[in-house]
Amino acid sequence: LKHFLTTEGLSKELLTEILDTADSFISTQERDVKKVPLLRGKTVVNLFFENSTRTRSTFELAAKRLSADILNLDISKSATAKGETLMDTLWNLEAMYSDMFVVRHADSGAAHFIASQVTPNVAIINAGDGRHAHPTQAMLDMLTIRRHKGQIEGKVVAIVGDILHSRVARSQIHALKTLGAAEVRVVGPATLLPRDIEALGAKAYYDFNLALRDCDVIIMLRLQKERMQNALLPSESEFYKLYGLSTEKLALAKPDAIVMHPGPINRGVEIESAVADGPQSVILNQVSNGIAVRMAVMAMAMSGQQSMQQQAQQDSQ
Ligand code: CP
Repeated sequence: LKHFLTTEGLSKELLTEILDTADSFISTQERDVKKVPLLRGKTVVNLFFENSTRTRSTFELAAKRLSADILNLDISKSATAKGETLMDTLWNLEAMYSDMFVVRHADSGAAHFIASQVTPNVAIINAGDGRHAHPTQAMLDMLTIRRHKGQIEGKVVAIVGDILHSRVARSQIHALKTLGAAEVRVVGPATLLPRDIEALGAKAYYDFNLALRDCDVIIMLRLQKERMQNALLPSESEFYKLYGLSTEKLALAKPDAIVMHPGPINRGVEIESAVADGPQSVILNQVSNGIAVRMAVMAMAMSGQQSMQQQAQQDSQ
């Protein structure tokens, strides 16, 4: 690994290595993650051009647990507000001896573009680009499934709601298929399911009750209104009636099914509070697992980058 931009096309071995590495950081008491010196002397810059609570905070905590120095650039107070371009901002941050940029951006492809422009010394981690990918979210979700269900192989997983605008769903589908899930069901109104979804290996369902049958894992998504342009939408109350996860609906899945949500949750729109806070919910475990997964991705990217630099030095001698 050098950059971590997407789960698409990554091997089962690599995804499993990320999960195993993350597991190794979780202390046996399950109440904490270990502090390790793997990124001592390295500088990580959190660059969030879009709002975030969970991703930004857990990247910061993960960098600190890896003993890195972390800089959180407040974009709203940065010189981008004075017209500085994205690349000028990045080149200036590079000049401050940065080793890694964690980037969230509203434009799909932003992290790939940045990775193609920065010097080889800087690793790029995608913290969510437009509706394209959110790979660390998908990996913390895989870790959560593995820790609660023992394995991902053979599991039936339903991803429910606004799939069309969801970078999380795309990254989850790639990871779930690669890691051997038996079936990935995407569930929602036709207006919120991408036309190409079955090409990714997922099965489209418009009937939520049917989709819940035999499910091991139910992943709820919010309506991502900030990315909607003229989407034909049911009202929030209609949406809840058809695709909201209530206690009654949850009873249609396997009795030990787990309920997940990447957050932020909209209570009463896609999920009932009694379910979000109930015994089958692992939503806050997902947040905790984000620290270990982000530590794993950052440590592996830095190690991969150092190997490439050593190789380049040897080749030039
Ligand atoms: N899941 C997620 O990306 O949450 P934030 O927007 O709070 O980072």
